[in-house]
Amino acid sequence: MQQKIIILDFGSQTTQLIGRRVRELDTFCEILPYNKFPKDDPSVIGVILSGSPFSVHDPEAFKVDLSQFVGRLPVLGICYGAQFISHTLGGKVEKADSREYGRAHLETINLYNPLFKGFDRGSQVWMSHGDTITAIPEGFEVIGSTKDVKNAAFASVEQPIWAVQFHPEVYHTSQGALLLKNFVVDICGSKQDWSAASFVETTVKELKEQVGNDRVILGLSGGVDSSVAAVLLNKAIGKNLTCIFVDHGMLRKNEFQQVMDDYKVLGLNVIGVDASEKFFNDLAGVTEPEQKRKIIGRDFVEVFNAEARKITDAKWLAQGTIYPDRIESLNITGKVIKSHHNVGGLPKEMNLQLCEPLKWLFKDEVRRVGRQMGMPEHLITRHPFPGPGLAVRILGDITPEKVRVLQDADDIYIRGLREYVDTDGETLYNKVWQAGAILLSPVRSVGVMGDERTYENPVALRAVTSTDAMTADWAHLPYDFLAKVSNEIINKVRGVNRVCYDISSKPPATIEWE
Ligand code: XMP
Repeated sequence: MQQKIIILDFGSQTTQLIGRRVRELDTFCEILPYNKFPKDDPSVIGVILSGSPFSVHDPEAFKVDLSQFVGRLPVLGICYGAQFISHTLGGKVEKADSREYGRAHLETINLYNPLFKGFDRGSQVWMSHGDTITAIPEGFEVIGSTKDVKNAAFASVEQPIWAVQFHPEVYHTSQGALLLKNFVVDICGSKQDWSAASFVETTVKELKEQVGNDRVILGLSGGVDSSVAAVLLNKAIGKNLTCIFVDHGMLRKNEFQQVMDDYKVLGLNVIGVDASEKFFNDLAGVTEPEQKRKIIGRDFVEVFNAEARKITDAKWLAQGTIYPDRIESLNITGKVIKSHHNVGGLPKEMNLQLCEPLKWLFKDEVRRVGRQMGMPEHLITRHPFPGPGLAVRILGDITPEKVRVLQDADDIYIRGLREYVDTDGETLYNKVWQAGAILLSPVRSVGVMGDERTYENPVALRAVTSTDAMTADWAHLPYDFLAKVSNEIINKVRGVNRVCYDISSKPPATIEWE
């Protein structure tokens, strides 16, 4: 049985990070909404309670019934999790005089407590909370204090309960990974047997059992997730897998053909559909970003479904959905910023069942699984690319000519990133999370080429660093690189006479411009 740690999510921004850290310890974990603890699941070996935007005193604060696991499984409360434990078991939580935010040091620390095994005295921790624990519950002892926070870490004397007000999952807590290892491996007893190789082996076996001799359809996008899902399924069921790759006409330059060739080499059975004309027709004159996204989403489903219907004996639809796509986020605001589209809206009459072999994996794990199966590096390290493609990187209405201009500029930029090897030996392409060019087609500016006046569009270059696309920083690309790319674009791409570099972080900007 695959052991697992349950992380109960109280809505903190860093809950996913806790999950990643646990997976880095080769231990399987599930992030579940705070009120969805799985009863009677013998594979659970420990529980972590996350942080939260709420104070325990807020009337709408999320609450969990601790008796479901306390006393039976080791528990670690982080930030709000720690405050909730304290508040519920008889301690006291009060508003801090000033928000406790930023770096602090564990000036006193109980190095005999198993949670702090191997810690250094004075170890740096990261605090971020508005409330503070002024009294710990009876039967607990303080095991770590900072200058300002006496009850920074505490533990039960009799039961396996630990609580820390700081965030071990963030990079700024220097020995946070060690703390989580002490909890997950030493305290909970993880066997650390969750690896790419074991994942491939068990998933191929499970897929064979799940799907049997049925036919499966899979929508490919050229991206890492759907490609890895396809290769896994191909390993399990071979020719019974049919992949569909729709070209909406707004992919990168030559990408459709290159990706089709890659898929052939991987031995996948792929139907490539060139539907660009339909997409261009339906998008003609449309400028509003959400409307563009809606049209593309709708057309995509139509084209995909028309192709899928031809495979009349199909029983399953497979998708490259990964864990972060699914985590039931406790969206406090409920506002839609952008409607992302992936394959959706199955043809109802086909009665297809859903098969999502990567649904438990984080992006870096998907890449490890791809490598484990021997997929080529350029497919595995490919940057994320939005489903609507260049349509959301051309401001204003879309025409085939604008797509061509942007494809050419983007191609120069991306090739440049792949070719430029930085001082640490890594290419710029591999150092950034994602990059692309944006055509600012509603804007024109004056330039001079030879003796001629030009009046053309600018192109913006965007490159960001990120771990999960939820937040991102603009990449500090070297000036010599930017200078070279700018020159090449302006000299070679007709219709572009100016290049800008986007220096906005997310938030408040987003990665894509539309
Ligand atoms: P934003 O622009 O919201 O993008 O900061 C976050 C990440 O999502 C990608 N993105 C999409 N991916 N379908 C996708 O599969 C979409 O419609 C879509 N829109 C944006 C974006 O490229 C970035 O990685």
